[in-house]
Amino acid sequence: MCGIVGFTGAQNAAPILLEGLKKLEYRGYDSAGIAVMDGNSISVNKVTGRIANLCEKTDNGKAVKGGTGIGHTRWATHGAPTSENAHPHLSNDGKFAVVHNGIIENYMSLREKLISEGYHFESETDTEVIVHLIEKYYKGNVREALIKTTNKLRGSYALGVICAENPGTLYAAREASPLILGLGTDENYFASDVTALVAHTRNVIYLEDGEFAELTADSIKIFDCLGAEINKKVVRVMWDVQAAEKGGYEHFMMKEIKEQPAAVKATITPRIKDGKVVFDELDITADKLKNINKILITACGSAYYAGCAGKYALEKLCNIPVSVELASELRYSEPIIDEHTLLIVISQSGETADTIAAMKECKQKGAAVIAVVNVVGSTVAKLADYTVYTWAGPEIAVATTKGYTTQVTVLYLLSIYFADKLGLIKEDYGKYVKSVQSLPRFVQQAIDMNPQIESLAKKYHSSKALFFIGRNTDYAVSLEGALKMKEISYLHSEAYAAGELKHGTIALIEEHQPVIALCCNENIMEKTLSNIVEVKARGAEVLALTFRNNEKIVSVADDLMFIPEIDPIFSGVVEIVPLQLLAYFVAKENGCDIDKPKNLAKSVTVE
Ligand code: G6P
Repeated sequence: MCGIVGFTGAQNAAPILLEGLKKLEYRGYDSAGIAVMDGNSISVNKVTGRIANLCEKTDNGKAVKGGTGIGHTRWATHGAPTSENAHPHLSNDGKFAVVHNGIIENYMSLREKLISEGYHFESETDTEVIVHLIEKYYKGNVREALIKTTNKLRGSYALGVICAENPGTLYAAREASPLILGLGTDENYFASDVTALVAHTRNVIYLEDGEFAELTADSIKIFDCLGAEINKKVVRVMWDVQAAEKGGYEHFMMKEIKEQPAAVKATITPRIKDGKVVFDELDITADKLKNINKILITACGSAYYAGCAGKYALEKLCNIPVSVELASELRYSEPIIDEHTLLIVISQSGETADTIAAMKECKQKGAAVIAVVNVVGSTVAKLADYTVYTWAGPEIAVATTKGYTTQVTVLYLLSIYFADKLGLIKEDYGKYVKSVQSLPRFVQQAIDMNPQIESLAKKYHSSKALFFIGRNTDYAVSLEGALKMKEISYLHSEAYAAGELKHGTIALIEEHQPVIALCCNENIMEKTLSNIVEVKARGAEVLALTFRNNEKIVSVADDLMFIPEIDPIFSGVVEIVPLQLLAYFVAKENGCDIDKPKNLAKSVTVE
């Protein structure tokens, strides 16, 4: 997501802040800014686009005087990527500047209250409420104002603050968003990511949730949430810069696989309030929904497969037929669409050319368009009637992981939301909401319960081909699993609906042919089991994905991957995780360039 840096010491702060921000560029961002304190005055410089623009604006920082400052790279969430929305944000009296990572969930109500009290807002961001709250609560003690402010915030934050009345001091606070303090000699730092620190110091302190810090050039004080000073361990970081960017992982893909519990949580949290699914971004009335007789999902690549996985939940809960079409096909197929069609467009980047074209075509024919997008302010987001952001954070590996799982999560939430509006799921409502709320935990378990996948990869990596089979959601997830495998390991891998095997593909099954069988739905398990038996009778090696205590499958499969037991309506988000891990380890075994596979691009903006 966004990046934070802070510096205080005898050197000029701006060049150091700019260097730090450059180290955070890999995380993705769309605007940047710094605030530097010179004596009792704070100067702010912000730009849209690259850090190079900020360097140009400030003569590489040389034009900005002062030894204490904070900097930020913003990856837009609340409000478009403009310089007004870029951080740092200033208080109305100009005494405080704030940078923030995370999302303040209750910012709307705080903003309304602050406006009624006379505070003036310059941006559309959730962050700006923080700096006005600090001004409001400041009575001469910044730490007290910060504690009072953070008590009012719901959501996640890493905060960097400077106050014109306290030259030379940096303030920091953290809740559910990383913030690390760097200990230098006669100078100190903070950053949201150790990458920005290792060029200066390897001695760091990791702030924990609820903690605050005050840094001057020669001291660091840390306080708990009640303001009592605490002692924290100094940790020596041994990572080099490249390893630090990847959070210590060898590849971004693994980092992003591991980020999925948090990413899925970020998708869900703002959409479940008091046990109800809410979408503040959608104002579709029940009457309008009742008028919809068809849901059409369109997308490309993994986003298309996310649609395939979400279709089952949408149909089951909403009782509306759902079709999923590849955008590149839909745009030329003269689709039958009218004002009774609801189009759901899915795109991580929001810039995929075919997706944009298909969306325009359907919109022109009268469909209402909901976009499920990760990148704020992207073309798909702008063109849609309604935009639901996935909040997955920037994805760097070309092969999507958290992008896909958060897309499927949005479709699950939409299924419950629509079905409720249509009055269809009164009794099961609470059960469904709970199932979706459990997804981050189940995703974590799916990561934790499969250490064997690394050695399974050693067994399967040299196969000529891999076949994936499954039914319904298992089939949809097979499609994405096979895509992950071919994208990064270059192994020929294909997914088939398990029942279709006997209509052709079974001819390819021979001695030791690996077949990856997804069996995660109790209701249709017997059927897939028959297909497993069929391929085994022809010599296949079966690697099954199922529940740990599922005796039926465990006893026939040659090898196993597991997921926790989960309602099959919402299982897609969890089932994909072991397949991502399998693709990753097979690719690693084959010595492939995992984060940048050959011939592929992260965002395909041409037809
Ligand atoms: C490219 C990427 C895929 C992605 C697809 C659609 O092919 O490599 O990972 O699924 O585009 O991208 P979008 O940004 O529209 O989701």
